[in-house]
Amino acid sequence: MTDSNGAVANTSNGVETRRNKVAVVTGGGKGIGAAICKFLARNGADIAIWDWNVDEAGSVVEDIQALGRKVVVCKVDVSSRADIQAATETTRAELGPIGILVNNAGVSPEQDFVDITDEELDRVIDINLKGTFYCTQAVIEDMINAKWGRIVNISSSSAQTGAKRMVHYAATKGGVIAFTKALAQEVAPLGITVNNVPPSTVYTDGLKSVEDRFPDGLQGYVDKTIPVKRLGQPEDIANAVAFLASEASGFITGQTLSVNGGRFMG
Ligand SMILES: NC(=O)c1ccc[n+]([C@@H]2O[C@H](COP(=O)([O-])OP(=O)(O)OC[C@H]3O[C@@H](n4cnc5c(N)ncnc54)[C@H](O)[C@@H]3O)[C@@H](O)[C@H]2O)c1
Repeated sequence: MTDSNGAVANTSNGVETRRNKVAVVTGGGKGIGAAICKFLARNGADIAIWDWNVDEAGSVVEDIQALGRKVVVCKVDVSSRADIQAATETTRAELGPIGILVNNAGVSPEQDFVDITDEELDRVIDINLKGTFYCTQAVIEDMINAKWGRIVNISSSSAQTGAKRMVHYAATKGGVIAFTKALAQEVAPLGITVNNVPPSTVYTDGLKSVEDRFPDGLQGYVDKTIPVKRLGQPEDIANAVAFLASEASGFITGQTLSVNGGRFMG
């Protein structure tokens, strides 16, 4: 199938992604980000993994290569404009102009509200909110030039429901949702969509690091609060992101696609 710009589309998984589209996935080295890398590669994208921990990215790199796609790994702290600038240049040189950006990197600390220091507040804002802002500013020019782009931000159900002992985290993720809507309005006429996916209780190292916040254990939490009666898996989020990154989602922008087993419906 050929689209209006003459690009050949791929229909694997029933979701079309342009061939040779280049996708940046921040925090793509493991967890949800790694699954997103694999799903985008399966749908025809070459992948740039921007992660500050490149040591754990080996297996996702092998998976992407096994799918026949190119991959580049850049050591990036998303709160550093210098790192992002260097990674943008490397990605363009190795893979070409960037058409898809998934702002997934994030930290999810837990602390009593009264104990959150200025330093910790700044750290969480710098990574989760300013990192999203910086990465998007760095790559959006390619999308504007191509008159096509897909930006998908990973927010959090904590921004929809609230989450005690995660006030700083939830506030940054609420900012990511507002960022999504505001930027979506600004760039929609340029052929660029901006959406967000708020995960909930997806079984990753990130979730394991806050496992003690569930007094009845994760299974107890699942039984009480998740209608589909299971934890989320990274692939649940990756499926939604792959759709929002595809040709098929061109009439969807500024939206929140909740992937949470029915925990929050709104
Ligand atoms: N797992 C969940 O249940 C859940 C729920 C809600 C939201 N989220 C969000 O989903 C995203 C991914 O979460 P996960 O559970 O896969 O986490 P994870 O901790 O398993 O993986 C996060 C990845 O991001 C990278 N990263 C972290 N900070 C970075 C930085 N400053 N610069 C570059 N890379 C950085 C890490 O090295 C790692 O590879 C996060 O934004 C998180 O807030 C996760």
